Amino acid sequence: MGWFSSLFSKKETNPSSKPLVLSWFGTDIHSHLLPGVDDGAQTMNESIAMVSKMAALGFRQCVLTSHVKMDIYPNESHRLKNAFEQLKNEVEALSIPINLALAAEYYIDDSLLTRLAENDILSFGKERYVLMEFSFATPPVQEQKVFDAFLTAGYKPILAHFERYGYFHGSVEKALAYRKQGVFIQMNLNSLTGHYGVEVRKQAERLIDEFALDFVGTDAHRMDHLTHLEANLSLPYFRELGNRLMRNQGL
Ligand SMILES: [Fe+2]
Repeated sequence: MGWFSSLFSKKETNPSSKPLVLSWFGTDIHSHLLPGVDDGAQTMNESIAMVSKMAALGFRQCVLTSHVKMDIYPNESHRLKNAFEQLKNEVEALSIPINLALAAEYYIDDSLLTRLAENDILSFGKERYVLMEFSFATPPVQEQKVFDAFLTAGYKPILAHFERYGYFHGSVEKALAYRKQGVFIQMNLNSLTGHYGVEVRKQAERLIDEFALDFVGTDAHRMDHLTHLEANLSLPYFRELGNRLMRNQGL
């Protein structure tokens, strides 16, 4: 066999050498694509460009998870629903081949249990998943109480971008403990590219190595999050994810 044909036979027998194709996941569960409601897309044009890019990257569905945080983004559900309807209408008018679902990324603060008590929670999937996040600066103190309240109310909490909390770096023990409690763990795909720094990348790799991961998401705030991800899909850990089943595929 000559060098040329051996090159091709090598590729054929080693599928893991191919870049990850994002259609493998089907659904992106974490994004900031609604226009003008948080630090994600700011205009309808920006939203449409990003939704089109999501479809071009292979996603069949996007869950839109705008920030809900009492002091900075006190997004009322009706405000997010209005923005969602407008975006959905535009996407349908332009025949962009993607399904959009509305949820939110809830910061765990004093307002969250009030929203739960008022039955004012945006969840997704028939499992009623709810995406939640902590402070990056200080370790959470009340999170177990909040998780339990949601679990008791019939929701399934997902902890957003576990790998980005610096106070957990070096171990995935906390992720394993949360999972035991019934909480699912989400990782940002761009954490594997080094976009958030070396330590976040290492922690993301640890989540994969230790099989401590339930969902992946783009957490796309801007177009360059998506183009940066697209440019890095040949990295070994992305190829490894191409062999893994996540809960994304079940949505
Ligand atoms: Fe986010």
